[in-house]
Amino acid sequence: MSKLSRRTILNAATGGLCVAGLGALIPGRAATLANVDVVARSQQTSLGRAVRPFDRWTYDTGTTNSIIRGQFGETIQANFLNRLDAPTTVHWHGLRVSKGMDGVSGKFGSPLVQPGETFEYQVPLRDPGTHWYHSHHDSLNQIARGLYGLLIVENPQEPSLFEQVLVFDDWTVMGPGRGNYEINWTKLEPSLAWGHDGVKGRVLTINGTVNPRLELAFEGATRLRMLNAATGRVFRPSFENARAWVVAMDGYTCQPFELSEPLFFGPGQRLDVLLEPAGLGRTQLFLGENLFGKGTGFEFGLGLESSGALAETLPGFTPYAPAELQPELRASQRVTLDMSELYRDHPEGAGKVKGEWQDWDSLVNSHRYWLFNDVADNSLGPLFTGRVGETVEVDFVNNSATHHVMHFHGQHVKVKSSTSASHEIGNFRDSITFEAWPKATIAMKLDRPGLRPLHCHILGHQVSGMFTYYEVT
Ligand code: C2O
Ligand code: CU
Repeated sequence: MSKLSRRTILNAATGGLCVAGLGALIPGRAATLANVDVVARSQQTSLGRAVRPFDRWTYDTGTTNSIIRGQFGETIQANFLNRLDAPTTVHWHGLRVSKGMDGVSGKFGSPLVQPGETFEYQVPLRDPGTHWYHSHHDSLNQIARGLYGLLIVENPQEPSLFEQVLVFDDWTVMGPGRGNYEINWTKLEPSLAWGHDGVKGRVLTINGTVNPRLELAFEGATRLRMLNAATGRVFRPSFENARAWVVAMDGYTCQPFELSEPLFFGPGQRLDVLLEPAGLGRTQLFLGENLFGKGTGFEFGLGLESSGALAETLPGFTPYAPAELQPELRASQRVTLDMSELYRDHPEGAGKVKGEWQDWDSLVNSHRYWLFNDVADNSLGPLFTGRVGETVEVDFVNNSATHHVMHFHGQHVKVKSSTSASHEIGNFRDSITFEAWPKATIAMKLDRPGLRPLHCHILGHQVSGMFTYYEVT
């Protein structure tokens, strides 16, 4: 594309590091408009020596991790061009966009962008934080192939720190072992994996490489902006020789707390952590998974241990709490969303398709493995209908031994109560990771009109039963 925008150039120049001094934006001032070109295309890529070069699908914005940066209060106009051979869309995950801009086609109102076609997405940056954007068409396949990028909305009110972006992903490969792997897209086809943890790849990458170069501020705290871009893997990041404080979850600042126990960090979620070296040896990140061990280690470059710098920075992070999203104490509606495996001993059948009960074999043979309120064919909905400004509560029940990551489009929600120790109560989120069995109640104040998907972000689950929506009028 010849038309390189100012922002694309800026992004390319900074390579995703902290952009300081862009000028403070006073909330309420007339929004500015920034243009960015986003080209979906296939590009020969190498993940490092472990895997043979292959054609990765990517959003070309001229940066690693396809980073788009904007300022709180701006509106981004993303000039999207589809240079892939397949139709696609762009979904702005975590952003409160208007109807038609959300990147979900069909009745949800966004166009399916055909090969060679363009579309202009208007993305108002109403919420500062670490967000992302990704394909929402044939999502399992397209996201697994790499169609995603980070969208960082800067908050000029926050301390400006040295930043390290960490995008986690895994890749489906085959081959005898390290150095001899080849990408294997057939793993993305319908399989029993959908009925388990979803599709997981054997090769882990950070920022698109097996051997990432991770930097720490030479002095003082580093802000890590983490994204789990995998389609099925729940990570449990932890650190060694470091002090680590969580300052934002899914991009929304929370009351800072020390990361003493690894959190369940599900697909689609973001986590912002302030990090400072502590103790002897190199500071390391471990990418554990579920409950098994601390996982693969990644080293950071050297930083100076300086007790105190991190603590001084923390008060600069105050919980994000826009009045228009604050749920009322009493909800006007309360609904249940029961997440279940196919029933083994229900008298009428294993699950419903088009309103009719079906037996286990016919569901499994058609790759339907999950139930939302007994429904196996993604046809449940609307889960509820409400008006803008109304407070709705959803009682989630995980009737399965598997993780699920419930993601709300266009809405930030609060966990009100939960039987899981890993749910932070009271922070805004757009996705909640459930480990096996817990129940939780979330509350939300409906924000703007539209049909809004609510689905599991373990994408093999999304396509095999775990998709519904709600309607805001
Ligand atoms: Cu991040 Cu419906 O998706
Ligand atoms: Cu799930």
